[in-house]
Amino acid sequence: MSALISLENITKTYVTGESEFHALKGVDFQLQSGEMVAIMGSSGSGKSTLMNIMGFLDHCTTGRYCFSGRDVSRLKDDELAAIRNQKVGFVFQSFFLLPRLNALQNVMLPLFYRGEEESSAKLKALNILEKVGVRDFITHKPNQLSGGQQQRVAIARALVGNPEVIFADEPTGSLDSKTSHDVMQLLIDLNQQEQRTIVIITHDKEISFMCPRVVTMKDGCVA
Ligand SMILES: Nc1ncnc2c1ncn2[C@@H]1O[C@H](COP(=O)(O)OP(=O)(O)O)[C@@H](O)[C@H]1O
Ligand SMILES: [Mg+2]
Repeated sequence: MSALISLENITKTYVTGESEFHALKGVDFQLQSGEMVAIMGSSGSGKSTLMNIMGFLDHCTTGRYCFSGRDVSRLKDDELAAIRNQKVGFVFQSFFLLPRLNALQNVMLPLFYRGEEESSAKLKALNILEKVGVRDFITHKPNQLSGGQQQRVAIARALVGNPEVIFADEPTGSLDSKTSHDVMQLLIDLNQQEQRTIVIITHDKEISFMCPRVVTMKDGCVA
């Protein structure tokens, strides 16, 4: 069986004015469907750059990226956007919920973008919100939710379209340690009970210790 994600010798060079910065210097990495992995490494080691490439938010400079056996290294922006919308879900440190929408509407939004009917979108969103433990807060706006509750809503939004992989970039970075632990446990449950494929970016050793597989980045390379 081929890997869900296969990276071969991936590089990323940022060019700003006259200067170049080599953020990724030849990364090889494979992820199987159903795996949960933590990508560790100090600030500036290239974790977010790598996630942005794996999540179809950015192109690599050189190298080969295969997703589900398909070479996606040289896709055009609109093709990348199409895969991104269908295949991946994101969770970020600062939640990125839309402030004027309530929890339910935030979770329904990705389904609207796919042209799904309101009634079925609502049903799916309610199911997921129940699963992540915030069913009682569906009419709350983000500023009426705690950080942990907001991150649960964000996780629900990432899950609702049934993506093949979830990328979480420092998902506990804005949470206290007890809430971080609870949010991590939710992600672990989603992996163990539903075989969700999850990539967690973190610089926190304790968070990485909770994950079944840990990959460490150092200075643009996988150590
Ligand atoms: N858009 C960009 N333009 C120029 N340099 C960037 C850009 N994004 C990231 N970098 C640089 O690339 C390096 C890796 O960044 P990043 O992937 O965000 O690291 P991490 O997530 O591990 O903290 C950093 O030195 C950062 O300053
Ligand atoms: Mg980062």
